[in-house]
Amino acid sequence: MRKTTLITGGAGYIGSHTALALINAGHHVLVLDNLCNSCRECITRLEQLTDTHVDFINGDMCDPILLDGIFSRYDIDSVVHFASLKSVEESVRKPLDYYANNVAGTLNLCKVMAAHEVFKLVFSSSATVYGDPAQTPILEDFGTGKPVNPYGRTKLMIEELLTDLCHSDPRWSIALLRYFNPIGAHESGMIGEDPKGRPNNLLPCLTQVAIGRIPELTVFGSDYPTVDGTCVRDYIHVVDLANGHLAALQVMQHHSGINSWNLGTGIGYSVLQIIHSFEDITGITIPYRFAPRRLGDIAKCWADPSKAGRELGWSAQRGLEQMITDTWRWQSSNPQGYQSSIETPARVAVK
Ligand code: NAD
Ligand code: WQD
Repeated sequence: MRKTTLITGGAGYIGSHTALALINAGHHVLVLDNLCNSCRECITRLEQLTDTHVDFINGDMCDPILLDGIFSRYDIDSVVHFASLKSVEESVRKPLDYYANNVAGTLNLCKVMAAHEVFKLVFSSSATVYGDPAQTPILEDFGTGKPVNPYGRTKLMIEELLTDLCHSDPRWSIALLRYFNPIGAHESGMIGEDPKGRPNNLLPCLTQVAIGRIPELTVFGSDYPTVDGTCVRDYIHVVDLANGHLAALQVMQHHSGINSWNLGTGIGYSVLQIIHSFEDITGITIPYRFAPRRLGDIAKCWADPSKAGRELGWSAQRGLEQMITDTWRWQSSNPQGYQSSIETPARVAVK
C-alpha cells in the first residue's frame, strides 16, 4: 500500500488547492469531504489538472465507523485537516452545529488517528485566534486572544485540544497553520472559491458584484483608524497558502510536538484599496456603498510571517495583482462556480 495523506475537506477552497500542490509534489492523497460546502465537480477538475485519479470519499468526519474503515483500508501517515464549517455569521445563529462539526469532528478524527497510530496532523487554524490584537503585525508569540464569535472559538478550542493532546504523547507532531485572508485561485481558472449560498467574505462578494450576481458591494465601516477609514487585512494567495502546507509536512517528517505558524504576506490592504485594485486590473467598475461597521470586525489585521520563513522555509510569492487576476479568472470563467459547467472552463482574458 502507498503512504497516503488524508485531506479532510479536500473538495473545499483551500483543501482542493492543497490537494493539487501535494499531488504535484508526488504525494498520494485521499480526499474525505461530505460536500456540505463544496461540489464533486471540484474533484473532477483536480483529476483534469493532474491527469491522475484522485481517491475521494463522500463522507462525514464526525462518523467514527467511516473514519475507522478509512484508516484500516489506506496506509495513512499524515492528515491535513481542513474540514470545518466556516461562516462567522452562521456560527452566531447555529453555534451547536459549529461546536459539533468543528470541535467534536476534530476530536473524532484525533481518536481514530491515535487508534491507528497516525500522529502527524496539519490543522487549518486562523488569525481569528488572536482576537483583536493589541498591535500589528501579529507574531505567534503574542499568544492567542479572545475570538469574537462561535466560529473563531471553535478554532481556538481545537488549538487548545491539540496542544493538550500533544503534551500527552510525544509521538504527536502537529502544525497549527494560522491563515490570514486567503483569496485568489489556481492560475488555470479550473478551481477556486465557490461558497454555497450568499458569500460573506470580501472577494467573493466583490467578484459576484462584478459578474452581476449581486447589484452592489456593501463596504462595512468608513471610520476605522486606518489609511482610508476601511478595515485592513493581510490577503494571501491560496496557492501560496497551499504551498505552506507542503512545507509544514516536510518539516514535520523530522520534528514532533506542536507548533504554530502564521501564513500571511505581512502586507495589509484596506477594503477600498482592494476595490480600486480590482477595478484597475479588470477594467470593471464596482458599484459600492458604505454601511455601518459589521459586528465583530477589527480595524487592522496583518501577519508577521517571519517564523514560517525561518522554520518552514516558506514565504508568500504572489502579490495583490496576481491574487486579483487569478480570482477574477476563476469567477469569470465559472460565473456559477462549479455549477457553471461540467466542461473545462474557457480562459478569460484579463486586462
Ligand atoms: P471550505 O468550506 O471551502 O472547505 C471546507 C470543506 O470541509 C468543505 O468542502 C466542506 O464540504 C467540508 N466539510 C465540512 N464539514 C465536514 C465534515 N463534517 N466532514 C467532511 N467534510 C466536511 O472552506 P475553506 O475556505 O477551504 O477553509 C478550509 C479550512 O481553513 C477550514 O477549516 C477553515 O475554517 C479554515 N480557514 C479558512 C479561512 C478562509 O477565509 N477561507 C481562513 C482561516 C481558516
Ligand atoms: C474582510 C474585510 C469586512 C464583505 C473572515 C473571518 C476570519 C477568517 C477569514 C476563517 C472586512 C469587509 C467584507 C463585504 C466588506 N475565516 N467586507 N463588505 O472578516 O477579515 O475574516 O474570513 O477563519 O475568521 O472572520 O474577512 O473577507 O469577511 O472581510 O466591506 O461584503 O472586508 O468588513 O473589513 P475577515 P472578510
